[in-house]
Amino acid sequence: MKAIHVGLLGLGTVGSGVVKIIEDHQDKLMHQVGCPVKVKKVLVKNIEKDRQVHISKEMLTTNVEDVINNPDIDVVIEVMGGVEETRDHLISALKAKKHVVTANKDLMAVYGTELLSIATENGCDLFYEASVAGGIPILRSLVDGLASDRITKMMGIVNGTTNFILTKMSKLGSAYDEVLKEAQDLGYAESDPTSDVEGLDAARKMAILARLGFSMHVDLEDVSVKGISSVTDDDISYSKRLGYTMKLIGIAQRENGKIEVAVEPTLLPETHPLAAVNDEFNAVYVYGEAVGETMFYGPGAGSLPTATAVVSDLVGVMKNMRLGVNGRSAVAPQFAKELKSPEHIYAQHFLRITAKDQVGAFSNITSLFSERGVSFEKILQLPIKNSNLAEIVIVTHKASHSDFEEILQRLNDLQVVEEVKSTYRVEGNGSI
Ligand code: NAP
Ligand code: HSE
Repeated sequence: MKAIHVGLLGLGTVGSGVVKIIEDHQDKLMHQVGCPVKVKKVLVKNIEKDRQVHISKEMLTTNVEDVINNPDIDVVIEVMGGVEETRDHLISALKAKKHVVTANKDLMAVYGTELLSIATENGCDLFYEASVAGGIPILRSLVDGLASDRITKMMGIVNGTTNFILTKMSKLGSAYDEVLKEAQDLGYAESDPTSDVEGLDAARKMAILARLGFSMHVDLEDVSVKGISSVTDDDISYSKRLGYTMKLIGIAQRENGKIEVAVEPTLLPETHPLAAVNDEFNAVYVYGEAVGETMFYGPGAGSLPTATAVVSDLVGVMKNMRLGVNGRSAVAPQFAKELKSPEHIYAQHFLRITAKDQVGAFSNITSLFSERGVSFEKILQLPIKNSNLAEIVIVTHKASHSDFEEILQRLNDLQVVEEVKSTYRVEGNGSI
């Protein structure tokens, strides 16, 4: 019974978890694939560094060729991160007929299509379950579990770091910088957390989800992105007052063959299932025409949860090896990409305005909305102490993005408006 040999690129948070699961779950792996699984070589940057798992120094290398062109290695697991250099390594590995498992959404969001086609050309598997929502098997659920359905909407909390930050700010009143540091210490954040807090990490994951869910080639540039770095305590407390919870939400929806993919801080009714997803947990809500509403929930980051997805992909590769069907599972997109234009994207909106507390100010503001046919669902008006200003908080009914943008521009020009302090999308009220 010949063992399957695995080479790792990276032995950090996820890589250490992969080594641990391969060791601790060896019996289960043997039972599933009928042979032992052994880690043969591991690429790291610094051989002398202390590791989270016990591993002999001889297994570590700083020369990538020892992994990607090692004749004894069957599967390369990429958990080092990075894009350009990592792409080159994975192309070399695939050309050397190594199957590849990666947790790298930065890479898959940009070069996924290219790498998948190189994998197919070389009869190799390229699996990337861990790249979206850590331990939640969402990619397999879209590709296999919901293969027979037409998916029309996905809404996801797909970044653990920002969900951790927003949860702590909202529930404990913690300061943004302090919680970000905590998320970094816990290993949730990327090495440069800007991509977490500015929404780019979530955008990469939504591009991957949209590609698989809508069977369309979706580029990262097609995703409109806004992060959480400008969310204030006041925004959170006003939204709570109106019965909403603030989350960084990725939205992908399809209507009449056209799609919208966006990531932005979004207000959800407190009763919405995604509003109850807290801390570093992730969840993806998927609506299919036939199945209706489904929701996938679990840990979106962290060593062992992410490593579970990686090692499950490894099991998938090994099962394919046993059946002799590697390199045949990637399916080309069925549809040409068509993006919705702003006049066809509808959502509710939350706005916080400071305005002069004087006769007629309120009607000046409301008439801007009514001229564009946009009505209000909720309004709050509060005087600001020791000033002649009032704070006005509005939640509109659904309006097109183009109408809303025009209203915003005209609000800013209005003499009675001091400042439009913030605006957020509102989702999950009633119909999907
Ligand atoms: P990490 O803790 O920073 O570990 C990176 C590992 O790769 C380290 O062992 C490092 O070596 C090695 N490495 C990095 N660049 C290298 C280079 N140029 N040459 C040789 N070795 C190099 O990262 P991580 O959190 O495990 O994340 C790994 C990947 O998984 C990323 O793509 C990330 O986006 C993805 N991911 C992470 C999570 C999570 O919860 N952390 C969840 C899902 C997906 P040294 O140890 O010697 O420095
Ligand atoms: N930085 C990412 C997050 C890791 O916080 O979700 C998991 O992809």
